Amino acid sequence: ATDLTGRHFLKEVDFSPEEFRHLIDLAAELKVAKKAGAEQQRLRGRTIALVFEKTSTRTRCAFEVAAADQGAGTTYLDPGGSQLGHKESVRDTARVLGRMYDGIEYRGSGQAVVEELAAYAGVPVYNGLTDDWHPTQMLADVLTMTEHCPKPLDGTAFAYLGDARNNMGNSYLVTGALLGMDVRIVAPRVLWPEEAVVARARALAERTGARISLTEDVEEGVAATDFVATDVWVSMGEPKEVWDERIALLRPYAVTTDVLRATGNPDVKFLHCLPAFHDLGTAMGREIHARHGLDSLEVTDEVFESRHSVVFDEAENRMHTIKAVLVATLAGDGAA
Ligand code: CP
Ligand code: NVA
Repeated sequence: ATDLTGRHFLKEVDFSPEEFRHLIDLAAELKVAKKAGAEQQRLRGRTIALVFEKTSTRTRCAFEVAAADQGAGTTYLDPGGSQLGHKESVRDTARVLGRMYDGIEYRGSGQAVVEELAAYAGVPVYNGLTDDWHPTQMLADVLTMTEHCPKPLDGTAFAYLGDARNNMGNSYLVTGALLGMDVRIVAPRVLWPEEAVVARARALAERTGARISLTEDVEEGVAATDFVATDVWVSMGEPKEVWDERIALLRPYAVTTDVLRATGNPDVKFLHCLPAFHDLGTAMGREIHARHGLDSLEVTDEVFESRHSVVFDEAENRMHTIKAVLVATLAGDGAA
């Protein structure tokens, strides 16, 4: 049996394919149990610190609801709302929170920060997104794929279009490699994941039988895929000035109905971790659309609202999968 008690959740490559799949299976079980009104609380009396140095809707809410469902309490520390990194070192913060909490979630820029928290906290630490990786998002995406595609994961193909030199690009590449999938990174070469990440994915693929390809060609990249995924073109923490260059580079990689058609798969599904800039519903979105004279950015409204789009299943699955991480690391799977 797979036992993840006491483990951190910092990046996908820390897990074996079996361990990763175990979390997906557990999430699926927890989802069924919740929907049937039969969820067993395995985290009663536990407390989890949620440290956010960057903003969040899904990740924060997923941790809070998952913990509440399981009987655990949470404390949310907002960006700027703690001493971490400003008045107190990461190490000291880790040791303080570790004395009070049973687990710590951290979202921020530095992967080194979440790794250092983990080294000193003495309790499981969870990466809620860094500039390098977004591992809890990968659990949700893979669960969503298993729900929307009858094929086994090692027979499933997905393409990620857009900024692939960010957390989502890195995470998709290594997660697909870990699970033996057919992974296509479709982006201008300058926005491909860094060579070290590609090398890591290729090494994993040798063991798992995954197929990895990186291409600048959209039609070739998406051909015969089961899923097409994208993300924002400019990530949190990047300066506003990068927008112009990014849009110029990525305009051909927007997910449109033509892109879905190019898959040749009438049942292809669309994934986006969200938030998305597909309409003019946000002030920032309006500003960017107006400045560049575009109707949409990384995905058209037409695709986003189409029957192909499974983005809200994906968002819901953040909660079930994060719950699986909490239960697996804090309660052990069998504990009542
Ligand atoms: N997908 C995701 O991580 O969303 P939030 O930034 O809202 O947490
Ligand atoms: N790449 C995005 C993902 C948001 C969930 C960012 O880091 O802002």
